[in-house]
Order: sequence, then structure tokens, then C-alpha cells
Amino acid sequence: MNQIKIFDTTLRDGEQAPGCSMNLREKLRIARMLEKMKVDIVEAGFPVASRGDFEAVEAISEALRNSTVAALARTRLPDIDSAWKALRKGADPRIHLFLATSDLHLQEKLHMTREEALESCERAVRHARGYTANIEFSCEDATRSDREFLFQMVETAIRAGARVINLPDTVGYTTPEEMRLLVSSVMEHVPVSDLAEFSVHCHNDLGMATANSLAGVLGGARQIECTINGLGERSGNAALEEVVMAMRVRPDLYGDLSTALDTTQIAKASRMVYSIIGQNTPWQKPIVGRNAFLHESGIHQHGMMANKLTYEILTPESVGVQTGTLILGKHSGRHALERRLEELGFELDETELNRCFDEFKDLCDRKKQIHDEDLIAIVNAISSREQDADDYVLDWYAVHTTNFTTATATVSLKLRDVRFEAVSLGRGPIDAAFGAIDQIMKPVDHTFELYRINGISQSTDSLGEVHVKINAGTHTFSGRGLSADIIEGSVLAYITAVNHLNAFVRRQGEVKNA
Ligand code: KIV
Ligand code: ZN
Repeated sequence: MNQIKIFDTTLRDGEQAPGCSMNLREKLRIARMLEKMKVDIVEAGFPVASRGDFEAVEAISEALRNSTVAALARTRLPDIDSAWKALRKGADPRIHLFLATSDLHLQEKLHMTREEALESCERAVRHARGYTANIEFSCEDATRSDREFLFQMVETAIRAGARVINLPDTVGYTTPEEMRLLVSSVMEHVPVSDLAEFSVHCHNDLGMATANSLAGVLGGARQIECTINGLGERSGNAALEEVVMAMRVRPDLYGDLSTALDTTQIAKASRMVYSIIGQNTPWQKPIVGRNAFLHESGIHQHGMMANKLTYEILTPESVGVQTGTLILGKHSGRHALERRLEELGFELDETELNRCFDEFKDLCDRKKQIHDEDLIAIVNAISSREQDADDYVLDWYAVHTTNFTTATATVSLKLRDVRFEAVSLGRGPIDAAFGAIDQIMKPVDHTFELYRINGISQSTDSLGEVHVKINAGTHTFSGRGLSADIIEGSVLAYITAVNHLNAFVRRQGEVKNA
């Protein structure tokens, strides 16, 4: 009764946010990390939404043995069948059903009466019960729902067999006091509430997701739905690291309530998620931002020297932030590199480690000190570049650009030792280079979801990490390029993304022709 379960939805609600889509390999990496952190439930996706989601849920439920894997489904029967099909090989699969309970959603979005909604809930939960007893039911927009109707819906779901009831603040509208009251009143008024566990799922539109989730716990909830770094629709969901650490830091408020989470993995998980979606950690982000444990002002430094408790409510070590870590340089060997990569959460096989070591040595020739950010960029670039025989590789490129003429690019690519060259004009050197690559690689129609350049450290000779994501249909393909030259980085990233897209199109063709 005193354990608060952590339900992580980075791979579902988090991934739904613009610019946060991930490919299968990236989702699997995050899922394994979440399991290592001892997250209780990993929501892996919404299988009926797309083939990519289905495949991710299937692969993650096969891969995880200790965390429960959940898949989202509306109360439509094909959604539930698809969720189960994707989950069926899991160790402890959960079907997560949802249906809106506010009149606004029922009337404007679903065109359903309250009676129809109750019937739909009952039918769906009973159908899902045919597959598993592990069923969660979410009353979407619970915080803006009529209380009496919400009680009815919760009772219907529990009587039909749901064992977890989630009360989401879907649009981030509520306040802590209201959230606490909502959970406690549902638990009090629904006659069969003792048969279910209650959960909260709070969005951050007014910046109160963490506070509202914790208030829900004080009201009686025993599961918090959250995401690494607070990713999620619009302004995001409650951040896992914030809710977990708040409970750790304030036992005076939360008493015996605690989570099973290994908090020392938080920094690694946060870095991994930011680097996969191609974002830099905001400096002032609570718990994981680079300033979270820095004390700049004289008064603060003086206090810290006298006693750390003056300005530090949690230690960097408790969330896995290593202060004063070993900095690698050109005399560091393979073992030191391997150890540091492990500390950063990367487990590489022999070939990947060798490639990483080669790139690391190249970088040491250009930079005296290699920081964690450089290593993460190297690993990301290497893992995005995994090649097969049908992939194009960069041979050379040349661009001509001024501030008064149209840019031109000539690009030479190789495919199994055959050389292809193309020339293109563009609105700048990158546009021109991408145009030339398109002429050679002939990708199907696609749009750009992301083109981002991150300077890895603070000098003009630093590495630039370019992250490109392109969308074709419902699928996303990503590539990274790492170079001191941002045009080269961009070219490498785009070639990789298009190689992934073309490989996918080839595979689809093979399936059709089989
Ligand atoms: O915000 C929300 O209501 C959701 C549900 C699907 C749980 O994400
Ligand atoms: Zn949500």
C-alpha cells in the first residue's frame, strides 16, 4: 500500500509530442533504460495508431522481463485486439483503455451520449478481460468531467474488470488542491473502488503537473504517470525525475510512501532521451539541468563550503550526476573509454566500441579534453550510421556559397564502390547539398520533421552534431552527422536518414512481392 508505482509514458505520450518521434531502435534503448531504472510500468505505444507503434510495442514487450509493458487502446474492439496482438509475448502485459468522460469531449469529439459512453466502456473492458486481467481504464479529461458521471464511469469500468483507474488532467487545467480532492472523492463515492488501484496522469499546461501528481498521491493515488524530462503533448507531462525526487526529499510530507526507482539512473536516462530527440538539456531544468547543482554566487558558495545543506536539498550523486568525473584525453585507453561509456548508460558490442574508439582518437587529435557530451555525440552518430550493403556512403562534396549568389553543391556518393555524382542549386549550401543527394538517392516524397545543429562544446572548433528527421507516411527516419564542419555533418546526417528511408521502402516492396 505504501509503494507508489511509476508508470512511464515517454514512449507513448512523450513520443506523441512534435519533434519527439523515435525509431524502433531508439525506443528499445529507452525501454531497456527504464527497466534498468526499475520503472514499474512502461507504456510502449498505441499499436493501432501506426505500424511503427505496433512494431515498437511488440519488440518492447518481448524485450522487457521485469517491468510491465502497457499499450494504449481506445474503447473500440479493433484497437484492443491490436494492443493485445502487440503485447501478447510480454511477461506481464497491460491493456490501457481510455475514453473521455467530460461532456465537452463526448459531445464535440466523440458525438456520444453519456449512456453510449458507459456502454462502450463496459463492452471494451469485458472484451479486454478476454485477453488479460491487467487492465487500466483512463477517464480522459477527468478533471473537467461532471463528478456524478465520473463516479458512474469508474464504477462501470471496475465492475467490468478494470483493476487500475486513471484520472488524467488531460489539458493541465487543475490545481493541486482540486486534484487531491478529485482522487479522494472518487475513491470515497464509488462503491467498488477498493477493487482498483488509482492513478494520476497530469499535463503541464499551467506548470503544475508535478505538484498535481503529488497531490493526487496524497489524495490516495498509488500510481503516477509521467515521462523522462517531462516530455509529452503540448507543455508535456509530469516529469518522472521531479515526482520521484520530491517524494525522496520530503519524507515529512509523504511519510512511508516511496517508489522502487533506482534514482541514480536518472541523469543517464535524461541524457539518453534528450539526445535521441535531438534536444539539449535546458540548463535550468530541475534535477537534470546543468545548473541544477551549480552554485555561482559568493553567498551561496560560502554557505556550501560551511555546510552543503545550506543550499543543496538533494545530492548530485543521488540522481547519478557525477561531479569531478574523469575527463578523457589522448592518453586514455580503450578501457577508460569503455568504462566511461558504461557510466553514461551505453552498452556497446565489440564492433561498436572499436568504431567509437577510432572516432574518439580522431577527436583527441583536434581537442585536448573530451567531455561526456562529445562521447554521447560520437555514440549517437555511430549507432545512427549502422550500414548495410545497399547503403550509400559519402565520397566527397564541394559547395560554393556567397551572400550574393545562389549556392551550388556537387556531391559524390558511393554505392558498393560505384561512384555517383550530382550537382544542385539551393537556397543555401545545405539545401543545395541535400538537393544533390536527392538526385542520387531518389528517396520517396518526405517532409522534414527536424533539422538541428548542436554545438557540442563552447568553442568555434567544437564538433557540430547535426540531427535530421524525415517523415514519409506515418514513419520517421533519423540520421546524425558529427563533424567540425556543419555542412559535412548535415550531409552525413541526411544520407543516413535517406538510407534508412530507402531500406524501409525496399523491405516493404519485398513483403509485397513475397
Ligand atoms: O492525457 C490523457 O488523458 C492521456 C490518456 C490517453 C491517458 O494521455
Ligand atoms: Zn496524456
